[in-house]
Amino acid sequence: MPTTQETATTSPIGRKTPRVDGPLKVSGTAQYASDFHFPGMLYAVPVGATIANGKIQKLDTAAAEKMPGVRAILHRANIGKIFRSTPGKGFEGICIERRPPFEDDVVRYYGQYVALAVADTFENAKAAADTVRLTYSKEKPNVGSELKAEDDPETVSTSYGPEKRLQSERGNPDVAFASAPVKLDQTYVTPAETHNPIELQGATAIWDGSTLTLYEESQAIFNMRGVLAQMFGLPKENVRVITKFVGSGFGSKLWPWTHCPLAAAASRQLGKPVRLVLSRKMMFETVGHRARTQQRVRLGATPEGKLVSLQHDYVYHRSVLDDYHENCGEATAFHYSVPNLRVQFGRATRNIGTPSDMRGPGAVPGLYATESAMNELADQLKMDPVQLRRLNEPKNDESLGIPFSSRHFLECLELGAEKFGWSKRNAQVGSMKQNGLTLGWGMAGAAWVAARFPAAASIELRDDGTVRVASGTQDIGTGTYTILAQLAAQKTGVALDKVEVALGDTTLPEGPISGGSMATGSLVPAVFAAADNAITSLLSIATTTPGSPYEKRKSDDLAFEGGRVFVKADGPSGGVPFADLLRRANVRLVSGHGSAEATFGEKKPKFSTHSFGCHFVEVTWQPEIARLRVNRVVTVIDAGRIINPLAGRNQIEGAVVMGIGMALLEHTTYDPQNGAPINSNLADYMVAVNADVPPLDVHFLDFPDKEINELGARGIGEIGLAGIAAAITAAVHHATGVRVRELPVTLDKLI
Ligand code: MOS
Repeated sequence: MPTTQETATTSPIGRKTPRVDGPLKVSGTAQYASDFHFPGMLYAVPVGATIANGKIQKLDTAAAEKMPGVRAILHRANIGKIFRSTPGKGFEGICIERRPPFEDDVVRYYGQYVALAVADTFENAKAAADTVRLTYSKEKPNVGSELKAEDDPETVSTSYGPEKRLQSERGNPDVAFASAPVKLDQTYVTPAETHNPIELQGATAIWDGSTLTLYEESQAIFNMRGVLAQMFGLPKENVRVITKFVGSGFGSKLWPWTHCPLAAAASRQLGKPVRLVLSRKMMFETVGHRARTQQRVRLGATPEGKLVSLQHDYVYHRSVLDDYHENCGEATAFHYSVPNLRVQFGRATRNIGTPSDMRGPGAVPGLYATESAMNELADQLKMDPVQLRRLNEPKNDESLGIPFSSRHFLECLELGAEKFGWSKRNAQVGSMKQNGLTLGWGMAGAAWVAARFPAAASIELRDDGTVRVASGTQDIGTGTYTILAQLAAQKTGVALDKVEVALGDTTLPEGPISGGSMATGSLVPAVFAAADNAITSLLSIATTTPGSPYEKRKSDDLAFEGGRVFVKADGPSGGVPFADLLRRANVRLVSGHGSAEATFGEKKPKFSTHSFGCHFVEVTWQPEIARLRVNRVVTVIDAGRIINPLAGRNQIEGAVVMGIGMALLEHTTYDPQNGAPINSNLADYMVAVNADVPPLDVHFLDFPDKEINELGARGIGEIGLAGIAAAITAAVHHATGVRVRELPVTLDKLI
């Protein structure tokens, strides 16, 4: 079966390409959002509520205002007008916490901003923020972890528009389940998890009369621009958002949070640039998290292992203010063949900051539940879990009744099992030993949506033989600078180090969001079209410039390849470099613009487009000292053509590391008394670190998906986190005999 290897050709596509921005990063010269300094800049520190449910009764700023260096203590009475933003078409106007900061005196979650101290230094602002005194009338917050679906209407509004709570249905799942010879009915729980990118969120705002410039580590600068324009009643053209580098986001930086308008309002008020950077504690309170979920999965099967019924009923927590939808059913309805199915959800409101997208939103907790259920069913049937999945491989997407554009899940399983040595498995719990340790083996499947967002890009060919590619997208650490350079190099034939990449600025052509694992796939057609248009201009210069070697030719007679223009009939061996043609014509550059439509959200798609994958995991268990380690992980990913196998492997490895954290460590805990996230720091909120992670074995299949773009490249940012927790908990069961159905697998659950 084809797997991705280093390509032998000179094409930059499919080559292990080190980050073109690597030297800037390791030398500390890459400018992240809070690395931009401006004369007279002020520092803002928000005051967070210390209750999670109640009202502000008194706000005493007198002492804080008199402190050294303090320029203002802003609050509801003096912040000035901040309008509410509204959603528009597509990815326009998305805001997960819609309420403008300080809009009323009601506190709905712990840490909600209630005032803002602005001073000449960060330290003075922090001291002033700590001195602001608040008194509240408070009620007991509801941060309870037992989730019971509330009485919601059939269709609920969510941050992304209306959603039917009955997401998918076919056949008669109740009857089929009742009469199924083999049944499984289990509930799986995933805790609230908090994104912990190393770079803290923050904004530097410069209000200049009627224009606003915001330096912000955004995963979606154009949406940020639109939301801020609405909040300040400005034309979009008067707002500029700049995001040159992002120290990871994991979804927390996709949409604007309330600190952005606060920084802008402070700058408007004080006539100076204002920087507001969150503390790590605030990162747990005010910029989203992965919602807690409680998911009941019912499977009915024949004794031979054919699924006859699948029901996935899930509940997640939402905030009081907003209705972010944690779509745990993302992959349920198509992943396996089953004639009778129902997927539906309910919600439970809590006094917490609004949850939001976190790497593989919905699908990651969803697949933990459904893949765990498949593993348990396999054990119940005394069947190999790989075989159970093979038996239930669908021929098409049964939820939509359309073909998959490219699905190679079975090949993933085959290669994964082979690389892992799965055939040596003894299914008996606790039966496999190595060096005095008990081994546990587990596996799970993975899926994640693939599609394109709208994207535009421009390309310039310049008279010094260099190329500039530009798109107002972002590089959130995933390698978008490098991908853009590779795409431009591919089409223009110049070396990678002759390509300048510009991104992260709303003055550039509107690029895709860095989300949903869709930036790369969306950029391919836009960049290629831009290059084609630039080349068309070049050929017309070649044929119209007096003295050009092609002066007497028609553009149609000419071709462009490897950076040279040549006569088609003569073949590509001769020709003239484009820089020569430009210099002869006294033209500094030719530019082309290109754009491509979205496929995401198409009303009547012809194909069901997803990436697929699987993980095989080995854990070691020492019952004597209750020591559990993840010892080995083999991951196989079917994500179409991989443009940069080096960056691609890095994405999957990072996701698997995060998956080890999800399975064994990560959970945000709320204090029932005051509603605060208790473990709101990196000492008490544990993420997987090097010591938790074994060598990771990642393989990519190579089946280009031409429905996505002409290279056949789908996304890889999120799929690696899908399924891994289910594979780990299956391995834990195999080693220990304990089924953990509530993540994370802390040791108290094993002894
Ligand atoms: Mo991802 S959660 O779409 O940044």
